[in-house]
Amino acid sequence: MMLDARSTSQDPAEDMTIGLVLPPLSPPSDEYIVQVVFPVSYGWAGVSMGGQMANSLLFPLWAYDTNKIMVGPRWTDDYILPTACAGPTVTLLPSSTVNSTHVNAIFRCQNCTVWEGGSLGSGNLNGTAVLAYVASSTTGVEDPSDINSSFQEHDYFNFFGVDLSAAHSSSYSQYVGGGSGTTTGAPSPSTSSVPSSTTSNAPTGAQSAYGQCGGTGWAGPITCASGLKCVAVSPPYYSQCQPGN
Ligand code: HEM
Repeated sequence: MMLDARSTSQDPAEDMTIGLVLPPLSPPSDEYIVQVVFPVSYGWAGVSMGGQMANSLLFPLWAYDTNKIMVGPRWTDDYILPTACAGPTVTLLPSSTVNSTHVNAIFRCQNCTVWEGGSLGSGNLNGTAVLAYVASSTTGVEDPSDINSSFQEHDYFNFFGVDLSAAHSSSYSQYVGGGSGTTTGAPSPSTSSVPSSTTSNAPTGAQSAYGQCGGTGWAGPITCASGLKCVAVSPPYYSQCQPGN
């Protein structure tokens, strides 16, 4: 299973896919589902819901015992090992898989839209959010069977912008129940079927809404389509085309 492509970002270089689905805007909710697909050979991967390392809700995750997945909420206020944080309830959904090539982690996080020092979409769940993802492609965590395990710094990080207004899904409750016995067919663990990306690594032309338009190492478009302006949402790493002039 892949989550709604409108809120999915694919990173072919690092072979990672991140997806986010929110429940419908009304009634108000403080939860969402995150999907992270990464090579099983990686030591661990991580997502930052605030788009930066410090003062964000972080989810490190890794595979262990052949086909199990560990994921839990962490937080830090500095560039040091994030520690488990109270508040969020993280539930790995049964549609998650580990196969010979990829970890496909799909987890629900409740009480997760606001955290110490920040909030998803800066408090506007119908606005835009910048998420970050990281990976340690070579080095595993110290004790994979311990959710509080320590681990070393990632060797990769990147960002993507999400249009939260397009990430709400009326199928949310089906995602939550996904794989619990009613679904047929195995979930797809591969990243190959994801049709589009909110990051839009388009090499030429003007960037579209919520696509990247600048930042450290960015080699794609630096101009935005008409009616959009390039905003440095996570300087110096990530600038994004947003409505406005
Ligand atoms: C889930 C786990 C983690 C996530 C999601 C995460 C996320 C990020 C992100 C998004 C950045 C770049 C943006 C920024 O500066 O805020 C970053 C930078 C950094 N992180 Fe992490 N991080 C994680 C774990 C760790 C750990 C365990 C360490 C070291 C013990 C670490 C050390 C650093 C350092 C030193 C930088 C600055 C690197 C640079 O600017 O070149 N991180 N992290």
